[in-house]
Amino acid sequence: MTTSNRAPKVLVVDDEATMRDVLEMRLQEWGFEVVLASDAEEAESLVKKEDPDLVLSDVVMPGTSGLELLKSLKGSRPERPVVLLTAHGTVEMAVDAIKEGALDFLTKPINYPSLRAVLDQACRDQEFLERSRKMADELEKERGFGPFIGTSATMREVYQLIQDMAESDASVLITGESGTGKELAARTIHDLSRRQDRPFVALNAAAIPHELVESELFGHEKGAFTGATTDRMGCFEIADGGTLLLDEIAEMPLELQPKLLRVLDEARFRRVGGKKEISVDVRTISATNKDARGAVREGILREDLYYRLNVFTLRLPPLRERGEDVALTAQHFLQVMRDKHGTPAQTFRDETLDLIERYRWPGNVREMRNVIERAAILAKGDWIEPGHLPAYVRDPTAERTQKLVIPSGMTASEVEKQLILQTLDETGNNKAAAARLLGLNEKTIRNKLKSYGLDR
Ligand SMILES: Nc1ncnc2c1ncn2[C@@H]1O[C@H](COP(=O)(O)OP(=O)(O)OP(=O)(O)O)[C@@H](O)[C@H]1O
Ligand SMILES: [Mg+2]
Repeated sequence: MTTSNRAPKVLVVDDEATMRDVLEMRLQEWGFEVVLASDAEEAESLVKKEDPDLVLSDVVMPGTSGLELLKSLKGSRPERPVVLLTAHGTVEMAVDAIKEGALDFLTKPINYPSLRAVLDQACRDQEFLERSRKMADELEKERGFGPFIGTSATMREVYQLIQDMAESDASVLITGESGTGKELAARTIHDLSRRQDRPFVALNAAAIPHELVESELFGHEKGAFTGATTDRMGCFEIADGGTLLLDEIAEMPLELQPKLLRVLDEARFRRVGGKKEISVDVRTISATNKDARGAVREGILREDLYYRLNVFTLRLPPLRERGEDVALTAQHFLQVMRDKHGTPAQTFRDETLDLIERYRWPGNVREMRNVIERAAILAKGDWIEPGHLPAYVRDPTAERTQKLVIPSGMTASEVEKQLILQTLDETGNNKAAAARLLGLNEKTIRNKLKSYGLDR
């Protein structure tokens, strides 16, 4: 029944002596070790002393009921399975029991084959959980490099390159799809380099309006342009002694690229509207999720700048090409969410893991983090079930219908309403989960729904 050497130990709780004897006999026949208690109080003290693998309890007993016992047991060690037995079963009681975390709810007279099936499943689950907990511990020890998760051969090469690049002071170009860890790699190179105690500054050329990029990079003097009301340092000055990440380098305005090249060559520049030459000591790392060579061919990235930035290239592989890292990363984020939200799920059903491994992960590690966070919030037990994954992960052929459509002219509060309703759809109308995903509190969501006239 179990592959561990020790027979699983079951605590049987029932006020009727005959019932205890019958169960003891059957369970021993099936290879379990049995401990008996005649009420909930005795059960509690035996749980402490004997640490059973599973508890099988009657519901209606003099004194504390089986349901109360269940609650208290789940409070102290939620992963220990509890099965309830009763002669007075009602649907409501069964629902309550399952809600409180009972593994199953069986009625008397006992159907022994069903009892046995429930116990066998519980043992398999327990064993699996133990194994995956051990695996998680082991992985925790050897799971990657610094903040990076992944032990695949391709990632090991990446870690080696990061270390080499940290030793050198040369320019680095990091390429990789969205969410593959380009910014993380840049920071790690900085953190391992001799510049670690100086600033790491990131400038995303795609995130700021074209006309402001120059002043962001080089700073400006008061009065240089409308709106320049004070002198201001740019990224190169702020990063002096440290590292500057030029993110989305292919989006760098073409007319600025010669000036950028000059700074990289001479380590000197002038602020916008400034006369004085400023010298800095900055290491540059650039990143792009586009093909940088392609950008050169298209004429949006100057060839001379490309060669200047690209002394070293670091290519980060997409998650789907990283084999066993996919499962490892999923398990890691599940643990992260347990720590962050106190969610109970410990591991993935095999079917869930299959889906995770089959999905393409176009948004790579960032997307996986979001998907696992959502699943962890939705899961109420030990397991992440396939149903906790978004539909497009479960069935990649399905359209991503969950897109927020924002026609121009829509007001901010309408957008907010759409977003809340859509998130509620995704969480199966679970307001607490939606609140957490949106970073709002649940009360706010309830109030908003009321204000929309939607008390769903
Ligand atoms: N191998 C990894 N292990 C653990 N976390 C990772 C890994 N790669 C990326 N992440 C995490 O995923 C998220 C996205 O990473 P990052 O911002 O570095 O990606 P990026 O390549 O810069 O993406 P984009 O092109 O969209 O800017 C971050 O939270 C980062 O910490
Ligand atoms: Mg990035």
